[in-house]
This record gives sequence, structure tokens and C-alpha cells, in this order.
Amino acid sequence: MADKKIVITIDGWSSCGKSTLAKQLAKRLQYTYIDSGAMYRAITLYFLRNNINWQDVASVKAALEDIDIDFRVNETTGLGEIYLNDENVEYLIRDLVVAEKVSEVAAIKQVRESAVAQQRKMGAAKGIVMDGRDIGTVVFPDAELKIFMTADNAVRVERRFKELYAKNPNITIEEVKNNLEMRDYIDSHREVSPLKQAEDAIVLDNTHITPDEQFKMALAWVKERTAA
Ligand code: DC
Repeated sequence: MADKKIVITIDGWSSCGKSTLAKQLAKRLQYTYIDSGAMYRAITLYFLRNNINWQDVASVKAALEDIDIDFRVNETTGLGEIYLNDENVEYLIRDLVVAEKVSEVAAIKQVRESAVAQQRKMGAAKGIVMDGRDIGTVVFPDAELKIFMTADNAVRVERRFKELYAKNPNITIEEVKNNLEMRDYIDSHREVSPLKQAEDAIVLDNTHITPDEQFKMALAWVKERTAA
């Protein structure tokens, strides 16, 4: 009998390598990978482009009606990419302009309600790995495997800097550090679904371990939970 399909949630601080692990797991297990942060980034991009005043609830509600988000598999990479109203925005949403506002937008109740409803639908059939901030606590509180990732601040800044510098050599390490600290603060202090570790999550600190080592550890946790 095939192993049973489960829901895997990966939450944690910004730039901990959550998506690296999530993609590895999804590929190996042939699960769907959903980057929930990409959804908040796409909504932020829409708000910025359309000058939506997100302090105003009515404007937020009206704008959300006009937003359609979905993930489509890129046949070359085999990975899902995010589409905002039929436009591929996978790369645009990684820009610092979006990163500077996304935590503010992700703290809005109506934005979260809309994103969480869609995330739950995506996970209804199980066989999913989703990463974010509230996936194990709010989106899938009954998930079979919950991982909470963390790493030292300096290591996280360095990793994100390398990623962004490759696309934009004008970026400074100070900018990246400030953005990361600001997002972590807002994400963990907001009123609605703040970033926090689920009580039944396994903590994975990857400051001193390689992506390959953490992948092996996570696979072992999956095995424990899917064995018949
Ligand atoms: O994972 P990321 O850095 O792409 O996420 C972008 C922002 O979205 C992050 O600052 C917090 C927010 N976010 C959230 O509030 N809840 C999630 N489930 C995922 C992301």
C-alpha cells in the first residue's frame, strides 16, 4: 500500500531556508508545494500597483474582490509559480519594494482571511507542503508534521543578502538587515495570527547544518508519520 499522504507545515522567521526545505520535500514525496508568503507578496504588489489605501477596510475588501491568485507548474523546473490575475509575478514579488510593505499588508485581517481560506482549499486533499508563518498554528492546526525553523540572525541576513545581491548589486547588507528585522518584528507582534511556534512543532535550527542534513532529518520525521 502506498504511504498515506499527510500535510506538512513549515513555519519560521524570514530567510531561514523554509522554502528550500519545502521544495526538497515536495519533490521527493511528489507533494504539492505552496509558498504562502508569495500570496501575501502578490497581494502587496497588487495594492502598490493600484494605489490601494490599505488603512481603509472598504478599499481592502473591494481590492481583494479583484485579485485572483493561483499557482501553476513551470514545466522546466517542475515548481509552482505564482500568478496574479493571470500574470506570472514569481520574480517581481521578491523585490525589496514589495518586501518593505508585505508585513504591513499581511497583518490586515481581511487579507489574512482571504489567503487562509484559499490555503485551506489547497490542502484539503493532503499531500501538501506549505511554508509560512501561521501554517501550523492557524491554517492547518491538525497537520501531521509541523516544523518550526530558526537560525541565527547574522546567518539569515547573509543568506538573504546573497540572494538579493545576485539580482540587484546596488543592494546593501544594511538594507537587507533592516528589512529582515522589521519584518520579523511586525510578523511576530501583529494582532491576527502572529508568527509563533505551534506547541506540537519540531524546532529545526539550521545555523550549523547544511540543507542536505536538514532534508535528511525532515525525511525521517515524514517517515515516522507516514509508516503504515
Ligand atoms: O515567506 P516570505 O518572506 O516570502 O513572506 C512574506 C511576508 O508575508 C512575511 O513578512 C510575513 C508574511 N507571511 C505571513 O504573514 N503569513 C504567512 N503564512 C506567510 C507569510
